Amino acid sequence: MTDEWVEWHRGYEQDTNQSRRLATVIQLIRQALEAAPPGPIRVVSLCAGDGRDLLGALSAHPRSDDVRARLVELDPELVHRGEERLRRDGTRGVEFVQGDASTTEAFEGAVPADLVLVCGVFGNVTDEDVRNTISHLPELSAAGATVIWTRGRFAPDLTPTIRAWFRDAGFDELSFVPVPNSTASVGAHRLRAPPRRLPSSTRLFTFLPKEARPSEQHTGSAG
Ligand SMILES: C[S@@+](CC[C@H](N)C(=O)[O-])C[C@H]1O[C@@H](n2cnc3c(N)ncnc32)[C@H](O)[C@@H]1O
Repeated sequence: MTDEWVEWHRGYEQDTNQSRRLATVIQLIRQALEAAPPGPIRVVSLCAGDGRDLLGALSAHPRSDDVRARLVELDPELVHRGEERLRRDGTRGVEFVQGDASTTEAFEGAVPADLVLVCGVFGNVTDEDVRNTISHLPELSAAGATVIWTRGRFAPDLTPTIRAWFRDAGFDELSFVPVPNSTASVGAHRLRAPPRRLPSSTRLFTFLPKEARPSEQHTGSAG
C-alpha cells in the first residue's frame, strides 16, 4: 500500500483534477474555520494522507493557533512527510497518528470534533461502507460540526445518494461543489441533530483492493 499512496500524492504536483479538488477542500476548510466561534477548534481527518488539505488551510490563517487536530493515516512515509511540514510551517496543535482510521477507536481522545475531514475515502470503499461511515459521523462530531468529504461523480454517480445519506444522518448541506472540468466533487455538511457518544471500537469502512475500488473504474478520478 505504501508505494501506491505515495505515488497517488504525486498527482498534487501538477494541475490535475486532484489538485483542483484540493483547492476546493482548502477553501471549504477555511470557511469552516472562519465560521467557528472563538476558542479551540477540534479537527479530525480520516485517511489524512500527508495532511496537505488541513495544513494548506492553516497556512497564515488567523485561527491556526486555535486548531487541535488529529490526522490519522496508515502510510508511514506520508505521516513522515506531514510531520516534516508541521515542523517547517511551525504549526502547533496538530498531530499525525500513524494507524488505522477505519474504526472509531482511532479518534478516542480527539473527539467530539468541530471539523471532520473525510477526503479521498468514499471512492475507495463499497457504497454500503460510505453509508455506514456517514451514519457514524455524528459520533465523531461536536454540536454543529462541519464534515467535509469528497467523491467522484463518475457513473453511476453516487453523490446524490451520499447527500441523502447525510440528510438522513442529521446533517444539513452547506455546499456541494463539482470541481470544474472533472468528475471530482467536494461536499460540506453541518450536523443539525444532537451529536452521539463515541462507541467503543466500531468499524466504519474497509478500503477495497485497488481493482475493485469505484474510483478505479474511471480514469482521472481523484477518488
Ligand atoms: C485517496 S488518499 C487521500 C489522502 C488525503 N485524505 C487527501 O485527500 O489528500 C487515501 C489515503 O487513505 C490512506 N488509508 C487507506 N486505508 C487506511 C486506513 N484504514 N486507515 C488510515 N489511512 C488509510 C492511504 O494510505 C491514503 O493516504
